[in-house]
Amino acid sequence: MNLSIIVALSENNLIGINNDLPWHLSADLKRVKAITMGHHLIMGRKTFDSIGKPLSGRPIIIITRNKDYKAKGCTVVPSLAEGIKAAKDDNEAFIFGGGEIFREALPLVNKIYMTRIHQRFEGDTYFPELNMEEWKQVSHNEFPADEKNNYPFSYINLERIMM
Ligand SMILES: NC(=O)c1ccc[n+]([C@@H]2O[C@H](COP(=O)([O-])OP(=O)(O)OC[C@H]3O[C@@H](n4cnc5c(N)ncnc54)[C@H](OP(=O)(O)O)[C@@H]3O)[C@@H](O)[C@H]2O)c1
Repeated sequence: MNLSIIVALSENNLIGINNDLPWHLSADLKRVKAITMGHHLIMGRKTFDSIGKPLSGRPIIIITRNKDYKAKGCTVVPSLAEGIKAAKDDNEAFIFGGGEIFREALPLVNKIYMTRIHQRFEGDTYFPELNMEEWKQVSHNEFPADEKNNYPFSYINLERIMM
């Protein structure tokens, strides 16, 4: 099974504020849906609370230390390792955030689907700094702001360099 991260981040690596996204970017929401459709999404409990509901066509695995936590239609696990195990029959599973889960999962993933929003934002949750000696960029497509997307952005796909 391939384990990948999918993330949208600002120029200053911000990913969240007040348990929400710092921006609304319609193109990114569509891209996330297209890439992840049919695959498992593994996420921290705070990210699930922020989304608030299951997402169509994608099994959700929620990581929490709370043994009593329940979410209708979702699988709840006590650790990242258990989350990955629960998705083992998928050919690609996605680490869906947020900051805590990205940090813990980063050493384990081979691919990052990144949307870079070319703007600085203020907030409280950041993506971990990447060591670019470990990653190669396999594609980079830039888009200008338009009537549906307030900021210019790029889709950047990274793959881990196998040593
Ligand atoms: N821009 C993006 O692409 C993107 C994507 C996803 C999320 N976000 C944003 O990121 C923010 C949320 O991120 P966050 O870092 O605050 O929270 P998070 O990573 O979504 O969830 C943290 C929670 O996960 C559980 N957890 C974490 N590590 C664990 C472990 N090792 N074992 C068991 N449980 C563990 C704990 O849940 P319990 O407290 O229940 O034990 C912890 O409170 C929000 O602002 C959200 O909008 C942005």
